[in-house]
Amino acid sequence: MQFIDLKSRHQLIVDKINARVQTVMEHGQFILGPEVNELETKLAKYTGSKHCVTVSSGTDSLLIALMALGVGAGDEVITVPYTWISSAEVIALLGAKPVFVDIRPDTLNMDEALLEAAITNKTKAIMPVSIYGQCSDMDAINEIAVKYDIPVIEDAAQSFGATYKGKKSCNLSTIGSTSFFPSKPLGCYGDGGALFTNDDELAEKFRWIRVHGQERKHHHPILGINGRMDTLQAAILLAIFEVFPEEVIRRQEIGNLYTSSLSKTSGIRTPSIAQGNTSVYAQYTILSDKRETIQETLKLQGIPSVSYYTVPLHIQPVFSSLGHHSGDFPVAERIADQCLSLPMSPYFSVNDLDRVVTSIALSE
Ligand SMILES: Cc1ncc(COP(=O)(O)O)c(C=O)c1O
Repeated sequence: MQFIDLKSRHQLIVDKINARVQTVMEHGQFILGPEVNELETKLAKYTGSKHCVTVSSGTDSLLIALMALGVGAGDEVITVPYTWISSAEVIALLGAKPVFVDIRPDTLNMDEALLEAAITNKTKAIMPVSIYGQCSDMDAINEIAVKYDIPVIEDAAQSFGATYKGKKSCNLSTIGSTSFFPSKPLGCYGDGGALFTNDDELAEKFRWIRVHGQERKHHHPILGINGRMDTLQAAILLAIFEVFPEEVIRRQEIGNLYTSSLSKTSGIRTPSIAQGNTSVYAQYTILSDKRETIQETLKLQGIPSVSYYTVPLHIQPVFSSLGHHSGDFPVAERIADQCLSLPMSPYFSVNDLDRVVTSIALSE
C-alpha cells in the first residue's frame, strides 16, 4: 500500500499528459509559455479570484507574497507553530520576525481567539495555514485584520480545492498562496505554486517579483527572484486539472468513510471539520496518545503512516533566537505528539481503507 498513490492518476491521464508535454516540446517556449497563462486563467476561475500568478514553488509563493507586501527587517508576521517550516522560514529570510499564535485543538488551525493579543504596531501580515486541507476561521481572522488594517495571506499549500462557507480556499483573504508539490491535492511533477488575489496592484507586483522585479524588459523597479513556474509543469497541471474536481469529491468521500469507520475505535480522535468547511484531506490525520503503538501495528501489516511537524516551529533550533521554550504553545506541542497521518489519495480503494481501519483496531 502506498502512502500517497500518484501512479493511479498518472495511468488514468497518461495520454493527456504526454500530449501536453509534446506540445511544449514542439513550441519550445519553456519559460512563461502559453500553458502558464492558460493554467492561470483556469485556476483563477476555479477559485473565483480575479488574479492567479503561478510561481516556482509554494515556498516561493509565500516569499513573493511577503515581498509584494513590503515585509522586511524589523517587521513582524503572525503565523502558527504547527506547520511546515516554509510558513515561518520565508518571514525570517526577509529579516522579519515570525510571531506565533497557538492552534485550536479541534481544527488544528490558528486559534483566532489568541490572534489579537499577538498584534503589535510592527505586525505587517497575518498568515494562517490551512493545515491538512481545511481552512482556518477566515471570517474571524479577516475581521481582526481589518480592524488593524493588516493584510492576510492564507497559506493554502495543503487546501487547494477546499471550501470555507461556500467560497474556495485561496480566495478568502488579501492573498492566497498554494503549492503544487507532487503530494499536494493538486500536485504537479516537480515543484510549483501559485498566488491568488483580487487586488490588481498586488497581482502586478507578483508578476514583477517572479521575474527578478522586472516591470518590462531590462527595467527593474523592485527586487525580485527567479520564481517562475516552468511551462512544462503548467502543461502537466492542465492535464491533471481536468480530473481534479472529481478527485476533490473522492477525497471528501474517503475522508468521510475513514471518519465513520474509525468512529468506534477507542483512543483515537478523527479530524474535526468545522461547520461550513469542506476539507480536501491533503492528509487524513488522526490524533492519539498511543500513536507509536498504532504506527508499529500498521507497519507490521505493511501500511505506511507519517507523523508531520513533530517538532513545532517555535522549538526548532533555527528559530532559537526567538527565545521560545517548550510549553509556550501547548496545543501545538500536544498535537505534534499525537498526530498520525494515514494513507490517503483520491484513488484509495475501500478495501485498502478497511485494511487500515482493521489494523488500527488491532492496536486497541
Ligand atoms: C503549509 C505549507 N506551506 C508551504 C509549503 C511549501 O510548499 P513547497 O514545498 O511547494 O515549497 C508547504 C509544503 O509542504 C506546506 O505544507
